[in-house]
Amino acid sequence: MDFVRKLVPVFLFVSCVLLVTINDNGVEASHRIYSRLQSVPAGEVKQLHRTAYHFQPPQHWINDPNAPMFFNGLYHLFYQYNPKGSVWGNIVWAHSISKDLINWEALPHAIFPSKPFDVNGTWSGSATILPGNRPVILYTGLDNDKRQIQNYAVPANISDPYLREWLKPDDNPLVLPSSDMNASQFRDPTTAWWHGGHWRMLVGGKRKHRGMAWLYRSINFNHWVKAKHALHSAPQTGMWECPDFFPVSLHGKNGVDTSKVGEDVKHVFKVSLDETRYDYYTVGKYDHEGDIYLPDNTSVDGRAGLRFDYGNFYASKTFFDPSKNRRILWGWANESDTADDDTAKGWAGIQAIPREVWLSPDGKQVLQWPVAELETLRGQKVDLKSIQNMTPGKLVEVKGITAAQADVDVTFSLASLEKAEEFDPNWEKLDAESVCAIKRSHVQGVVGPFGLATLASQNLEEFTPVFFRVFKTKDNKHKVLMCSDAKGSTLRPFDIKQYRPSFAGYVDIDLAAEKKISLRSLIDHSVVESFAAGGKTCILSRVYPTLAVNDAAHLFVFNNGTEPVSVQTLSAWSMSPPKLMNQNLNF
Ligand code: FRU
Repeated sequence: MDFVRKLVPVFLFVSCVLLVTINDNGVEASHRIYSRLQSVPAGEVKQLHRTAYHFQPPQHWINDPNAPMFFNGLYHLFYQYNPKGSVWGNIVWAHSISKDLINWEALPHAIFPSKPFDVNGTWSGSATILPGNRPVILYTGLDNDKRQIQNYAVPANISDPYLREWLKPDDNPLVLPSSDMNASQFRDPTTAWWHGGHWRMLVGGKRKHRGMAWLYRSINFNHWVKAKHALHSAPQTGMWECPDFFPVSLHGKNGVDTSKVGEDVKHVFKVSLDETRYDYYTVGKYDHEGDIYLPDNTSVDGRAGLRFDYGNFYASKTFFDPSKNRRILWGWANESDTADDDTAKGWAGIQAIPREVWLSPDGKQVLQWPVAELETLRGQKVDLKSIQNMTPGKLVEVKGITAAQADVDVTFSLASLEKAEEFDPNWEKLDAESVCAIKRSHVQGVVGPFGLATLASQNLEEFTPVFFRVFKTKDNKHKVLMCSDAKGSTLRPFDIKQYRPSFAGYVDIDLAAEKKISLRSLIDHSVVESFAAGGKTCILSRVYPTLAVNDAAHLFVFNNGTEPVSVQTLSAWSMSPPKLMNQNLNF
C-alpha cells in the first residue's frame, strides 16, 4: 500500500491538469516554424537530459533519419539537421559513419541547398545501391518556386571509404510534380527496388484528403515515369510523409534485399501520417506484376492501424544490411518540451536506437529489437533473484546500476488471469492511449498494473512507469495494455506547456497460454524506449525529470494489481557512452 499512498498526491495533481491538456496532445502537422528561433545558435549546450547512448549531434536541431545504408564495411546515417539553431529550419543533410551502428564519426554535411533545384530546401530521402556497388541518394529539393521536386546525389569520389563529398549533377531534378498534384505535398522518395527491367520508387503525397504513395518507374535511374496508378493510397489519412516499402521473409528473422519479390516474402508498407505524427504500417501482398500493394485483412491503413512505435517515433526508415542479413529501422524521436526550452538547452531531437525488424511468425505484424551491437555498451550488471508473488503496492528497487543510463530486461510471470478486470465496452471507441490515461499506474487493478518505474526519484515524486494491465473482454479473451506514462515524469508545473502523454498500445499475446510477458527498457536520461513481448509492441517516451537525474535516478519494479505477479528474471546493466569522433559539426 505504501506505493499507492506515495502516488496519490501525484495523481491528484495530474488529474486536475489533465482537464486542460486533454485536447492538446502536442501533435502538430508538419514542422512548426519558429522564425525567431530558427537561427539562434546554441550558447552553452545544457548537458542535463542529453542522452548518453542514443544518436544525437553535439548541438542544435535534428529530425528524420535519411538514406541509412551499409556500404563497403561502413554504416552511413544522414539526417535532417539545422546547423544554426535548435528548432526546425535551415535544413541540411548531416552525415555520420560507423562500423557498428553505435560508435559514430561525424563528417561534413553531405547535401545542402546550393542549386536552383534545391535552393529552398534539402529534405528527406533514401539511398539505393545500384549494380556495380554504386550508391545513389534520392532526396526532395525545394526549388526556386518552393515546389517539392525529387533530386539525386552521388558520391564525388567512390574510392573515398567515407563517401565524404556528394555531388548533385546538373541534370536534376529527376521528378517534378505533375500539374494535377499539390507541389507542396510531394516528398520523401524511398529506396528504389528493381524487377522486370525497371526501377521503382515511391514519393509521398496527398490528393484532397487522400494519402498517396506515388509510384515512379525507370529503366536507367535517370529518366523516371509516373505510373498510371499509385502503389497504394488511403482516404482520410492526409499527407503521407516518408513512405517506406520493404519485403520481409515469411520464415525467420533474416532481412531481405529491398528488390526481393516472390512467394517467400510479404511486404510492409509504412507511412508517417503528418496529421498525427505517428508511423503506421500494414503487412500485405505486393503484386509485383501489377505494381499494386494490398494490405492483408489483418492490418488496416490509417489511424487505427499498427504502429512501429506507440510513442514518440516518426519519419522512420529501414535499410537492408547485407553484412548481417538483417533489416534495420531508424526513427526520429522529437523533444516533448517547448521550443524555448530547446533553444535554451541548445539541442533538440535524437534518433531511436536502431532496431532489427522482421515478420512475426503469425505474419500479422513486425517484431523489433535493438541491434545486438548495443549490448557492447553494457557495463556493470545486476541480476535480481526471482521475486515471487508481488502483492499490490509492492515496489522493489533495482540497485547497483546507473538507473539514468541503463538497459533492463525483465520477465514477469502470472499465476492466473481468471479475475482480470472487465474491459469496459465503451473503451472500444477509445485508443489505447486514452485507456491508459484513465487506468494509470496508481489505479489499482487486478492483473496489473505491473512493470518498471523508470527515471524515478527516491520517493517517487516523479517517475515514468512502463507497465502492463490485463483485461478480460466480453468474449472471455484477454487484452493486454502496455503503457509508458509521461504524466508524472517531471515535477515541472503543468502550466509550462510540455507534452506528457500516457503513451500506450495493445500487445498481441495469448497471456492465458504463455503465462509470462517480457519487457526491455532502454533508459537514457530523457528517453525511455521500451519493447514488450520480444518486440511486439514498442513505446518510446521523452521525459525531463527534475529530481530523478544522473545519480539521483532510481529504478523499481512494481505490481499494483491484487493478483500476485512474479518477476521470473530481471537483468539490468549500466550503459557506457559510445565513442564519438570528430564531433565538431561546424563545417
Ligand atoms: C518529416 C518531414 C519530411 C520532410 C522533412 C523536412 O518529419 O516533414 O516530410 O522531408 O521532415 O525536414
